[in-house]
Amino acid sequence: MSAPAPRRTFAIISHPDAGKTTLTEKLLLFGGAIHMAGEVRARGQNRRARSDWMKIEQARGISVTSSVMTFERGGTVFNLLDTPGHEDFSEDTYRTLTAVDSAVMVIDAARGIEAQTRKLFEVCRLRDVPILTFINKVDREGRDPFELLDEVADMLALDVAPLNWPAGMGGEFKGLYDLRSGKFQAPDDTGTRTAGAITQMTGLDDPRLDELCGPIATRLRDQAELALGGYATLDPELYRKGALTPVLFGSALKDFGVEELIDALAEFAPSPRPQPALPEPVKPTDPQVSGFVFKVQANMNPQHRDRIAFLRIASGRFRRGMKLRQVATGKAIAINSPIFFFAQDREIADEAFPGDIIGIPNHGVLRVGDSLVEKDDVTFTGIPNFAPEILRRVKLGDPTKSKQLRTALTDMAEEGVTQLFKPMIGSQWIVGVVGQLQLEVLISRLEAEYRVAASFEPSPYETARWISGDPAEMKRFMEDNRPAMAEDRDGGPVFMARDAWELNYTIQREAKIRFSAVRERA
Ligand code: G4P
Repeated sequence: MSAPAPRRTFAIISHPDAGKTTLTEKLLLFGGAIHMAGEVRARGQNRRARSDWMKIEQARGISVTSSVMTFERGGTVFNLLDTPGHEDFSEDTYRTLTAVDSAVMVIDAARGIEAQTRKLFEVCRLRDVPILTFINKVDREGRDPFELLDEVADMLALDVAPLNWPAGMGGEFKGLYDLRSGKFQAPDDTGTRTAGAITQMTGLDDPRLDELCGPIATRLRDQAELALGGYATLDPELYRKGALTPVLFGSALKDFGVEELIDALAEFAPSPRPQPALPEPVKPTDPQVSGFVFKVQANMNPQHRDRIAFLRIASGRFRRGMKLRQVATGKAIAINSPIFFFAQDREIADEAFPGDIIGIPNHGVLRVGDSLVEKDDVTFTGIPNFAPEILRRVKLGDPTKSKQLRTALTDMAEEGVTQLFKPMIGSQWIVGVVGQLQLEVLISRLEAEYRVAASFEPSPYETARWISGDPAEMKRFMEDNRPAMAEDRDGGPVFMARDAWELNYTIQREAKIRFSAVRERA
């Protein structure tokens, strides 16, 4: 058996509009996975408009294929995991980040680090996911490169190592100088300012820089020298430990820095890493096949209600037709039609290796957070559920449909779209979501896929926390707070609070109870 090609499994994190869609498209283009720029873009734009987005979600297929995009370049296989752009779906994004080995952080050169970038960065840091930074849109007026680098260093407490330097920005932009190799790439001469030929310079004093950059050459020389002296040089080990971020300036739109980004990922981004699990982390070299489900998505065909579970392979050499055991239930599942995803196609996967993502069609058996193993039980940890920020009661249009409603809500809770809480008093289930858009998607899917007309009613509660602690204390707490207690779908106890004030008050008063905003599937 030949050794598998090296794998790089990564995601792009960014604030909306920084250029994630454009960069994704260019990565696929330079990776040979798509032939014409514009295919991903069309999707990005649709997604931005809410109504179109809903239609697309209902049609389903497109979002399924875009969840994972695999391409190959220079003998390395890249698995790019898509994270939904809309912030209401950040929960999904967080879970996707549990399945990657590294992330690319895209920053808009005019805006620097924005709220969503920072939030996602924190998630990466929790899991020590190394970050490569791409400062995008240097073809537009942007902020001073030093200021941008210092912002990354200060706000994220990371060492920065610039790999290239822009010769001017916006109207003055003349190209990018590679600080390590001395290669300079100027725009082509077609007038569109798209990246053109690369010239190998002998160094910053090469006179050809003056020919290509005119008066900007002096600034480039001064700045690049300062940068080389003032910032860290790239130490791949520090990067892989999450202590340093290599930084590339570029323009996804004009193709600057994109190939350099792919090459940088191939050169120093981590190979599939050991995955946190109990009793101990799973190494990619462990012989048995194991993996975890980080995402479940409803399939194209609502009639059949089959769903695709996305499994990140953590160890072993997976082969089609294998039986894997779902650790939570002990159930064996024959995986006969695992799917690989490309930009537009899917293909049956005959073999998959650590770092790869396979889609497993199933009828609701597999859930987010599930561990699948060939032989010995291991439970992957750290695939979180987040405390909902919106709680609603569901009101049925037709009361005879309560059974269908229950099925639908349970299904969607298993997909991780919503959470479901059963109050200890009363029979009306409460649905919890992290953002408003999820509620809209939920109503529309209830109708389209389950033929259940429903609406939401406010619930008396606004937020919820999972609780744990000493059994006697727990019992007392639950009795004292009976009306505010509920169970999640696994029977885990949940405390619901009317508002943030009540929650904080309760947390402070109940020192012996642990309140958790995140829950991992055990
Ligand atoms: P997102 O997925 O992170 O939300 O961002 P997206 O790629 O959709 O890009 C947001 C906007 O920024 C788009 O403009 C896109 O064309 C532009 N953009 C992305 N990369 C670059 C770049 O390197 N340089 C410049 N100048 N612009 C860039 P838009 O006006 O919203 O869409 P469109 O009408 O241009 O398609």
